This record gives sequence, C-alpha cells and structure tokens, in this order.
Amino acid sequence: MSKRQIILGIETSCDETAAAIYDEDNGLLAHEIYSQVQLHNQFGGVVPELASRDHVRKLLPLVHKALEDAKLALNQLTGIAYTSGPGLIGALLVGATFGRSLAWSLNIPSLGVHHLEAHLFAAMLEEQSPSYPFITLLVSGGHTQLMRVNQLGNYQILGETLDDAVGEAFDKTAKLLGLPYPGGAKLAELANQGRPGRFHFPRPMIDRPDFDFSFSGLKTAVIQAWQKSAKDEQTKADLAYAFQEAAIETLVIKTVRAIQREKIHHLVIAGGVGANRLLRQRLRETLALHDVATYFPRIEFCTDNAAMVAYLGFLRLKAGQLDSDLGIHVRARWPVDELTRF
Ligand code: KG4
Ligand code: ZN
Repeated sequence: MSKRQIILGIETSCDETAAAIYDEDNGLLAHEIYSQVQLHNQFGGVVPELASRDHVRKLLPLVHKALEDAKLALNQLTGIAYTSGPGLIGALLVGATFGRSLAWSLNIPSLGVHHLEAHLFAAMLEEQSPSYPFITLLVSGGHTQLMRVNQLGNYQILGETLDDAVGEAFDKTAKLLGLPYPGGAKLAELANQGRPGRFHFPRPMIDRPDFDFSFSGLKTAVIQAWQKSAKDEQTKADLAYAFQEAAIETLVIKTVRAIQREKIHHLVIAGGVGANRLLRQRLRETLALHDVATYFPRIEFCTDNAAMVAYLGFLRLKAGQLDSDLGIHVRARWPVDELTRF
C-alpha cells in the first residue's frame, strides 16, 4: 500500500464510544469521545447490555462529527480500524459491525485491532515519541503488565498481575470509601487531602525478583484499616493517600527493575492509570536518575479512546494486514502473545 493512508478508528470495547481519524501525512485530524460513565454510575459498574445499546445510539453521530472536524468526506477514507477485542462482546459487536460494514460499502480495507495493543502505541501520537525497543508499563482497569516492545507485533510480557489489576484496586478502594464508579481518578484527588504517616500499607511482591504484581492484598489491608478506624472524611483521605503511595511505589520499583535488567532506555506508560499524576511524576523523577526517557500519552489518550485505535490500524493496514472475510469477528478474551508479528 503506497497511497497516503487516512484511517477511521472506532472504539466501543467497554463504556466509551469513540471515533477518530489518523492521516499518514498530517497525523491525528480528529477525535471524538462519549463516556457512558453517568449511565453506569447508579449501578456501581458497567452494565454490558446498557453499554451496547448506548454505543448504537452514539457511534454514528461521533463518526459524522469526526469527519466534519477533519473536513473530510467519507470517500476520502482509505481504511477503517475498529477494536475487535478484548472487551464486552455486545459492545465490541457494535463497533465491529459498523466498521466492517462501512468499509465494505466504501470498498476499502478494514481491520479489527487489539485494544491493549492500541494502548501500547498511544504515546506515539505525541510529538516526543519513543523508538523500538521500549518497555511499556500497561496499567488499566483490567491489566497490569510490564512488556518489552521490540517492534509492531513483537512483544514479550516481562511481568503481570497475579490477581487484581491496579486500576481495579483503585476502583475497589474508591468504592469502599464511598466514591462513585469508576473511582480511580477521584481516589487520587482525595489522596491530595491525605496526611502522610497515619497509615502504612505493604508494597506487595517487591521482595520477589520477578516483575509480577499483586494488588488484592493491598486492597484487603485498606479494608482492614478502614474497619478499625473512625469513618470521617480525614480518615478517608488518609487511607486514600496511603493506598496510592503503596500502589504507585510498587509500580515504580518493578518498572525500574525491568528497565535495568533489559538495559533499555525508553519507557512508555499506557492505560487509564497512566493518567495518575503521582505515577507520572514518580516515574519521570526516578527514571531520569537511571538515564531513561519516559513517554506518556496525553491524559485523554491514557483512558479509552479511538485515536490510538486509528493509529494502530494505520500501522497494521500499512503493513498489509486487513480483514480477510466479510464476517464480523470479536473476542472477549485475546492474549497479547497471540498477536501477529511484522
Ligand atoms: O484503560 P482504561 O480506560 O480502561 C481499561 O481498558 O481498563 O483504564 C480505566 C482505569 C480505571 O480503573 C480507572 O479508575 C483508572 O483507569 N484511572 C485512574 C486514574 N484515571 C483513570 N487510576 C488512578 N488515577 C487516575 N488518575
Ligand atoms: Zn483500555
């Protein structure tokens, strides 16, 4: 494929509906996002059927808006990428059915892409972007992984969580303290009012030489401390502070070890917890001491978005990969090591 690529990206894997356009020559032209957070708030978590229905309502207007912002007509698109997994099956089907059908009607290629792989490359949408190989710390609501990225499609998992993902631990701790779902960012805000020294939680698994994580014990430690304490606002903030310190320090310690063992000087942060200011600050400071450059996506591209889907779609479509039949294929589970290499 030598012609200039203009790719529409579609994301509907969970509770964000998003559309974006990436242009090979001019970069990101438009990105639109609609969050269903308000819809799911009252249930304390994402309700899959409601998520699918809302994607159906919102996707088409978002695609129209993205095209309008990019000042493009539909027939100027050269390809369409949509998230085909992992995620909620019904939600994924909305984006996949729309993307595959639109591509068919326009007679252009389409490609179902891997949601986490898209997160891995989100930092490449920024001006300062890393070169291969790099280490990625992927921290989201469903995953906590340290990965070595050798090139597109060539990844090596160095370590991962054995139980809860770090975002999940943030969300569950937030729920315990009475914050609305998803509580990660709100817990981080509350921690700003917390005082150091009142609580101290363990840094799980740091005495082990591997790069695996475990966050369920930390969550339990917070629950136990909460049960023994007065239930006032200052206590909540102090617990949030101590939880955040323990979680972030654990991530930083393991990341530094992975960087040192692999002898790689580029670190990329990806996923929703990458929006956490303390994590960003600590990683930047600590890794600078080790002569390692850190690359972060802008805050809105840490959490789910279609810009990263459009960009990954561009990389893979450009490399010659495309949907090979007219079927609509989605996967709730999709291990990263099953991805194809280039
Ligand atoms: O990547 P993402 O949008 O969705 C998944 O694919 O999981 O990540 C969402 C996760 C949630 O657990 C959310 O609470 C967490 O990222 N999160 C944060 C912050 N912003 C989002 N956690 C800690 N601090 C934040 N500022
Ligand atoms: Zn995500």
